[in-house]
Amino acid sequence: MKLKIIIASTRPGRKGPILGTWITDIARKHGVYDVEVLDLAEINLPFIDEPNHPRFQKYEHEHTKAWSKTINEADAFIFVTPEYNFGYPATLKNALDFLYNEWTYKPVGFVSYGGVAAGTRAVQMLKQVVTAQKMMPVAESVNVPFFTRFINDADQFVPEEGLEKSAYGMLDELVLWTKALMELRSHKVA
Ligand SMILES: Cc1cc2nc3c(=O)[nH]c(=O)nc-3n(C[C@H](O)[C@H](O)[C@H](O)COP(=O)(O)O)c2cc1C
Repeated sequence: MKLKIIIASTRPGRKGPILGTWITDIARKHGVYDVEVLDLAEINLPFIDEPNHPRFQKYEHEHTKAWSKTINEADAFIFVTPEYNFGYPATLKNALDFLYNEWTYKPVGFVSYGGVAAGTRAVQMLKQVVTAQKMMPVAESVNVPFFTRFINDADQFVPEEGLEKSAYGMLDELVLWTKALMELRSHKVA
């Protein structure tokens, strides 16, 4: 089962990859998934520039075809997202909007980070959008309040024990949905 971890923030000096590395290490230790990291800064999609609705998969651009292949391969996702102005980053919305069928009937877990609200407002907003794409957001998410206190001088994320426990809880739940939705996708008519 392939898990793709998407790092949503792209700005210079961003902290997203620090949290991305932390959850990637845990997902690999968890031992169930074949784990890959997708960093939206590296993938560098332009603002959506396809003339057709993604449902038709009539892609004109190589970057869309490559993104389609990458997302199509996945069986599950974790989105690592900050909160920007009480929402999630436009870079993630853009990456979601590029495709449709490639996302459908796949589960998604969230690692969010921020100040007092721990990025939860971004996650709530994401749930509305991912369900429009027929994804299944898992309830067990990892929400990190005042996250910078857990970043050490070597730029590693070293949180309190509870957060690691909630990461394993989220992964266990993600596995259940991954199996159920793989079965569901096997009944999908093209
Ligand atoms: C444009 C912008 C808007 C922000 N808005 C929020 C916010 O609404 N809530 C919050 O908790 N933190 C907010 N912050 C602070 C972020 O939690 C913090 O900068 C974090 O490092 C952003 O993630 P990134 O470093 O991966 O980009 C905001 C930061 C930026 C750059």
